[in-house]
Amino acid sequence: MDKKTQHYSTQFPDVRVKVYSVSESLKRHLYLFKTVTGVFSFKQLDLGTKVFIEHMKIPEKQGVLLDLGCGYGAIGIVLAHLASQSTVYLTDINKRALWCARENIKYNLTERSGKVIVLPGSYFEPFKNKNVKFDGIYMNPPLRNGRREFLTLCEDIPRYLKSKGLFQFVIKKKMGAEYVHNYLNKHHSELFEIIEVIFKRSGYWIFCLMSF
Ligand SMILES: C[S@@+](CC[C@H](N)C(=O)[O-])C[C@H]1O[C@@H](n2cnc3c(N)ncnc32)[C@H](O)[C@@H]1O
Repeated sequence: MDKKTQHYSTQFPDVRVKVYSVSESLKRHLYLFKTVTGVFSFKQLDLGTKVFIEHMKIPEKQGVLLDLGCGYGAIGIVLAHLASQSTVYLTDINKRALWCARENIKYNLTERSGKVIVLPGSYFEPFKNKNVKFDGIYMNPPLRNGRREFLTLCEDIPRYLKSKGLFQFVIKKKMGAEYVHNYLNKHHSELFEIIEVIFKRSGYWIFCLMSF
């Protein structure tokens, strides 16, 4: 991929490394994230991610949660902070993003009892030979890879969710939130018991899908 067409969904971004700090108050707690060029939204927390974090549902019971395509780790780190007994996985394909996520876990999560695990790989590849199922999967999807890729991923999700597990994600209206909602209702209603848009703000739609 040449530099012009390359974006953050690359395994090894080929742009000069520059380190940034992003501070953000999320669910009434202040976080400081280290970010680098070549990682999604490295100069400031993406508005979609922020709206999503403020409105995502976090299971009260101890469980296993996944931040799928974690970037520098904001969603997974907030989950790990608030669900401090749960095991939280963060995965991404981008090696720089994973480096940031590991640094940000060390810095932001000093006191917690549950495990926080960072794994490299494409989507569910890191869990291929592991018998892991999740109570919650959380995602700000890489729609620049194409909407089709995301809709295909949605077909795989139920295999990785426990019964009554939640798949939550955010999509910008301009990036086709309404299309995705209609598509899921039309083609995936047999895969999920509930398909809901739980919140809309600033042009972002927050989806919550529950497995059977
Ligand atoms: C829209 S960004 C969201 C990042 C982060 N969750 C956030 O909200 O700031 C999508 C993320 O998905 C990652 N990604 C793209 N393709 C992927 C794949 N095939 N498997 C895993 N992660 C992928 C990108 O590297 C990027 O970090």
